[in-house]
Amino acid sequence: MACAYSSILPKFDASLAKKHPMRRRLVAGNWKMNKGYREARALFDYLNDTARDMPAEVDVMIAPPALYLSSFAKESTKKIEVGAQDVSQRREAEGAYTGEISASILNSAGVHYAIVGHSERRSYHGEDDELIREKIRACIDAGLAPVYCCGEQLEDRDSDRHFDVVRKQLDTALKDFTALELQKLIVAYEPVWAIGTGKTASPGQAQEMHAYIRKVIGERFDTDFAAAVRILYGGSCKPGNAAEIFSGEDVDGGLIGGASLKGEDFVAIIKAGL
Ligand code: 13P
Repeated sequence: MACAYSSILPKFDASLAKKHPMRRRLVAGNWKMNKGYREARALFDYLNDTARDMPAEVDVMIAPPALYLSSFAKESTKKIEVGAQDVSQRREAEGAYTGEISASILNSAGVHYAIVGHSERRSYHGEDDELIREKIRACIDAGLAPVYCCGEQLEDRDSDRHFDVVRKQLDTALKDFTALELQKLIVAYEPVWAIGTGKTASPGQAQEMHAYIRKVIGERFDTDFAAAVRILYGGSCKPGNAAEIFSGEDVDGGLIGGASLKGEDFVAIIKAGL
């Protein structure tokens, strides 16, 4: 591990390692396929009621099941933004695509973020970075902020290929865009081996990969743009480990799965984002 990191150090622009003044922290909750209506409503109400206790410096987003998006977006306090867990790759606002929700329809319902490329979409729905690039494009056309998920499998890390894997994901997904088009881009680094497993990347591993992602974005676009992109960490983030993980210079918050389903835990993680 140490040797892989040292291989990127000489080329890494140290000025990027400082937290950028424009980079607001973001803590986002990915509810996945959880919560029947009553439970979802109770959690949403709890978060709205608690919003005033959340630090002003930390942005908050929740991504509940799609069915609840429109009503939550309408009723949420300004503090809590609502995002989709996925979006259609179709660039048309409307069309005969049964089961799909376009970025434009999301936007019209007050939903301004969409998670794209989550590892569960990749593994259970065969999504790859070519398709994910189309989803990012659809988000941008409709004015949504794409939360682009990337991250390596355990065998990639064990064989020291994790940097290469993540670089390839970014290279494919961000190909053909300009920095101007990607102003709203948010990246979420979610090592697959840490998702829902209770195994978290160490703060050092998270920071190391976040710095690397910023470096790759800087090379593809420019360093000013890279310095302003928010990069979230996701994977078994909990109240007990969030503050330490978020302390990394290049870690701008988290994409939280299981712990976002418990109001108190999610709020504790939001507070750790300060
Ligand atoms: P967990 O926090 O449950 O590991 O899930 C992370 C995740 O997949 C967020 O998108």
